Amino acid sequence: MKDIKIITEHWGKINPLKIEEYINFGGYGALEKFVLKMNPEKAIEEIQKSGLCGRGGAGFPTGDKLEMVAKNTSETKYFICNLEESEPGTYKDRLIVDNNPHILLEGIIISALSIGAKKAFIYINGNYEKQKEILEKALAQSREKKYWGENILGSAFRLEIEIYSGAGAYICGEETALINSVEGNRGEPKLRPPFPTEVGLFGSPTVVDNAETIANIPWIILNGGKKYSAIGSKNSPGTKIFLLNGAVEKPGTYEAPTGITVKKLIDEYAGGIKKGKEFWFAQIGGACGKLLLEKELKVKMEFGKECECPLGSGSILVVDKSVNIHDLLISWTDFFRRESCGKCVPCREGTFRLWEIAKRFRDGKISDRDKKAIEDILWTLDNTTFCPLGKFAGTAFRDAIAKNILTF
Ligand SMILES: Cc1cc2nc3c(=O)[nH]c(=O)nc-3n(C[C@H](O)[C@H](O)[C@H](O)COP(=O)(O)O)c2cc1C
Ligand code: SF4
Repeated sequence: MKDIKIITEHWGKINPLKIEEYINFGGYGALEKFVLKMNPEKAIEEIQKSGLCGRGGAGFPTGDKLEMVAKNTSETKYFICNLEESEPGTYKDRLIVDNNPHILLEGIIISALSIGAKKAFIYINGNYEKQKEILEKALAQSREKKYWGENILGSAFRLEIEIYSGAGAYICGEETALINSVEGNRGEPKLRPPFPTEVGLFGSPTVVDNAETIANIPWIILNGGKKYSAIGSKNSPGTKIFLLNGAVEKPGTYEAPTGITVKKLIDEYAGGIKKGKEFWFAQIGGACGKLLLEKELKVKMEFGKECECPLGSGSILVVDKSVNIHDLLISWTDFFRRESCGKCVPCREGTFRLWEIAKRFRDGKISDRDKKAIEDILWTLDNTTFCPLGKFAGTAFRDAIAKNILTF
């Protein structure tokens, strides 16, 4: 099972700028199967059977989301590929585009057609200029081959695809803020419900899926949902792209079955802790991720309510004892301070105050009032903010205190 590759299978073997090389490896075979031998209902049924759930962090069942919009009788529907990806330490979606943009396009086309959308957007991080160029080239090649546009592969299916470049704001990865951004509004989250599947882009039912989630779709259509569901964890099957960085021998990108433990990822994939370094903790899922001590590394990397540690984007930062925790604290808090969209007071003020305290902490100027304020701010971020970004902003700080990584 260690070697099962779904998304990274052709990385390094094909030239991402040449559609023929993807086609030679069976690329766009899933789209052909979808158009010629399946129908949207059957495709969604296979995706539901696969157990695929969202790789954007929340782990919502992908097939169910597609079905909700497919069943909606609205004339206009949209499909959006979320390629925002601003979380520090997270770049898996960028790597998908760098290495095999067509697997993503094939997944987008199948997903969009399965819900009855005539228009799909790729919402790309404004800093991903190179990736935008790659996608533009890939889109031109695939349109030429009639994989999208009018009469796809000679059928009655039609789809337009547009790349929409954001400004690189972390909050615009949140689906309602993303929709606001595409609509030309300020990138702020909207109140949910209604969810985008009911009232989404320009008021129409919309599916927003993460790029990695979408890249699984061609494999599922070709091989069947049952086969996919047998890979990895029972609760959230499939593979996941993990990004291992920090104090490991072989930092890098690894596709592994879900349900794998952090320990196994570090020891068997990333070559173990870097020689001469002493493990301190691992941060799971980017700057908003939880911290795990050595005794906790046996937690399984899976999605769902039962999971012990949210795996988020799947990035794992291994921190050794030579790292200055105060600098790390400033880097976490500074990120959220900058990225808070400012819509709600608890996050706008809370993230800023936390960053100020982190700086005083580093400079040895922390007061008793600060110590009390940390508790209040962390509670406020956790319980009163408008969207999850506020909650995320305090996770690592809270864990660092709870696990005695940070002591007063
Ligand atoms: C602050 C914040 C940032 C987010 N950033 C991203 C992102 O960059 N990419 C992404 O796919 N999902 C991101 N999400 C999750 C999206 O709101 C949404 O759940 C996801 O795109 C759905 O796709 P999935 O079901 O395939 O995971 C973010 C959520 C929050 C709260
Ligand atoms: S929690 Fe932060 S990011 Fe979310 S709406 Fe409030 S200010 Fe904006």
